[in-house]
Amino acid sequence: MKILLIGSSGQLGREIIKSSPKNIDLIYPSKINFDLSNTSQCYKYILDTLPDWVINSGAYTNVEKAEKEKEIAYEINAKGPQSIAKALSKTDGKLIHISTDYVFNGEQNTPYKVNKKTSPINYYGFSKATGEELIQKLLPENNKLCIIRTSWLMSPYGNNFATKIMKLLQDRDEVKVVYDQISSPTSTKSLANAIWKAIELNNLFSLTKKNFPKTIHFSNSGIASWYDVAEAIGEIGIKKGLIKDMATLLPIESSEYQTVALRPKYSVLDSSQTNNFLNIRNIHWRKALLEDFENFLNLHNHKIN
Ligand SMILES: NC(=O)c1ccc[n+]([C@@H]2O[C@H](COP(=O)([O-])OP(=O)(O)OC[C@H]3O[C@@H](n4cnc5c(N)ncnc54)[C@H](OP(=O)(O)O)[C@@H]3O)[C@@H](O)[C@H]2O)c1
Repeated sequence: MKILLIGSSGQLGREIIKSSPKNIDLIYPSKINFDLSNTSQCYKYILDTLPDWVINSGAYTNVEKAEKEKEIAYEINAKGPQSIAKALSKTDGKLIHISTDYVFNGEQNTPYKVNKKTSPINYYGFSKATGEELIQKLLPENNKLCIIRTSWLMSPYGNNFATKIMKLLQDRDEVKVVYDQISSPTSTKSLANAIWKAIELNNLFSLTKKNFPKTIHFSNSGIASWYDVAEAIGEIGIKKGLIKDMATLLPIESSEYQTVALRPKYSVLDSSQTNNFLNIRNIHWRKALLEDFENFLNLHNHKIN
């Protein structure tokens, strides 16, 4: 099975490569060769390589900068996926497209179900929600498309909340973190495993003419505020010797932390159906993060990058 991975240098992309099953012919072009903002290049690349699956983990992910760089965020998060779907509509290939909890406005206080209408409150969320809509229109057939929404992705590498806060807790005397935004932190490793499971099951369903869901939610279990995550990262840092003298962690409200982009207050995704459906034993985000850091540190001589 030939799989084309977009966004291979990102934190999720790296984990998808690491966890790829042995029988897979995984192609992962660089951004120069597959640039989501270059629609004709994306379209042609897919028609030239004819993958059985495309996993689109590539995105413009800087929520703050997206408010100013609207055009490029739209090209990468909406038009790029549209060109992937357009190409796949001409082939037998299928698409896994990664999306986000930020397609919702956060005004609920119960987990968001897959069929809830999207209602983004920032431009990143808007561009991702538009990407979802555009690809759904182009790939209406059963089992051809699976959008996987996830939340608060973290890993021991790359530029994400966990790695940033680890450094701040080590370097500063005091770190202020908001406590009034709630979601479910998700390890890239857990999500990568869910993606491979979804592909396997979708292929099986196609053989037996059963319908695979067009959109699923996947996050690690449990919920947290950014403050809770920072505290957990501090504990991991101390335990693993990455933090010697930890900063004082102070909870603050979102209104005390100036940002250009609005963030949903509550963006917990309801993943219960996915866990049953994929037959995944989903683990708590604290356990997932600890395990990921432990594995990574063992492999990399107890250093993070
Ligand atoms: N991070 C989160 O908290 C979070 C939460 C929910 C959903 N998601 C979604 O999960 C997916 C993976 O996110 P992530 O955290 O792994 O993001 P990431 O670490 O920021 O990686 C993004 C990837 O997209 C690539 N990319 C950026 N612009 C591109 C372009 N024009 N053409 C092709 N590739 C391009 C990047 O390449 P370069 O490194 O070369 O720029 C990188 O490989 C995204 O769809 C994101 O929207 C993320």
